[in-house]
Amino acid sequence: MKAIRIYAFGEPSVMQLEEVERPVAAADEILVKVYATSVNPADYIIRQGGNDLLRPYLKLPLGLGLDAAGIVEEVGSEVTDFKKGDKVYGVPNFPGDGSYAEYLAAKASQFALMPRNISFIEAGALPSCALIAWNGIVDLGRVEAGQRVFIHGAAGGVGNLAVQVAKAKGAYVIGTASPYNFDFLKELGADEVLDYKDQQFEALLGNIDLVFNASPVRDNETRLKSADLLKEGGIFVCTQLDSPLSEELKEALAQKNATGTHVGGGGLAYVSSLRETTSLIEEGKVKAVISKVYPLEQVGEAHRESETKHVRGKIVLKIRDEN
Ligand SMILES: NC(=O)c1ccc[n+]([C@@H]2O[C@H](COP(=O)([O-])OP(=O)(O)OC[C@H]3O[C@@H](n4cnc5c(N)ncnc54)[C@H](OP(=O)(O)O)[C@@H]3O)[C@@H](O)[C@H]2O)c1
Repeated sequence: MKAIRIYAFGEPSVMQLEEVERPVAAADEILVKVYATSVNPADYIIRQGGNDLLRPYLKLPLGLGLDAAGIVEEVGSEVTDFKKGDKVYGVPNFPGDGSYAEYLAAKASQFALMPRNISFIEAGALPSCALIAWNGIVDLGRVEAGQRVFIHGAAGGVGNLAVQVAKAKGAYVIGTASPYNFDFLKELGADEVLDYKDQQFEALLGNIDLVFNASPVRDNETRLKSADLLKEGGIFVCTQLDSPLSEELKEALAQKNATGTHVGGGGLAYVSSLRETTSLIEEGKVKAVISKVYPLEQVGEAHRESETKHVRGKIVLKIRDEN
């Protein structure tokens, strides 16, 4: 089968499309025939050699890719949740062999059944960002109807799903983005959108119940200004796992009896959140936002585009045709 492998860390050119052996499912695993995957910041961060959090887990040669959508080809002897032919999506084996591959074997517990109303391309765009958005907005952010939620990086892979999930829960949603994304975010349900470059959000907003930082840019100043906007007892959730909350930020949050936390890293119930998102998708309350689809052969271009940090929604890698 074909798969992407890297033998050195570096530029997109280190990604090689190779013929490798098809994996075999262990007793608690499923073998998935992959139709689509997508590009996440973690993919290019790993390709470049990782960050402090990831580096200890990265051993060359390495596959890449977090997300997968496909069809169950085989089930291990202990697997009871899935059968051959099921359409599934999930975040398999991270970090490890990766999902930029025609087949993968991974624990059945890392997958959920795909929403019935979407394609493999749409499903491949969703899993990791949907998990982070659900865990951040619902599990950690404890969003309630009528609350004011402020989302940094609202047009990105995680951000657009956070907007949709918060709206589905009845929140009043304010997002930051570049002006070219304002109409897009309004159509997605955002109540207000601010330009993170030209508008001083700290002077325009207040009474925020939940700040969700889904920006790909690590910026302590933005975090501090956002913490100032929180109500007493508010919540600050940050997606930037590799970048700890500063002592200054912790102090600012403590003064408001607010909590500050990171989302991600496998600490939260994975697949149950994906099932929750599946329901919202089947109810038509959440959809996949895809800016571009590349064939696997063009993975280098896909990475370059993702590294601009200005993708709207997701870039999908098509592994094989739906038919
Ligand atoms: N994807 C995952 O599975 C995952 C998992 C765990 C953690 N995370 C973390 O979550 C964060 C977001 O990931 P992502 O996949 O959503 O990234 P992404 O899709 O690459 O984010 C792109 C978005 O970021 C916006 N943006 C760029 N600079 C910004 C700034 N200075 N302030 C606010 N927004 C800005 C862009 O908006 P405009 O184009 O409108 O300027 C664009 O819409 C990253 O820190 C990532 O490490 C992601």
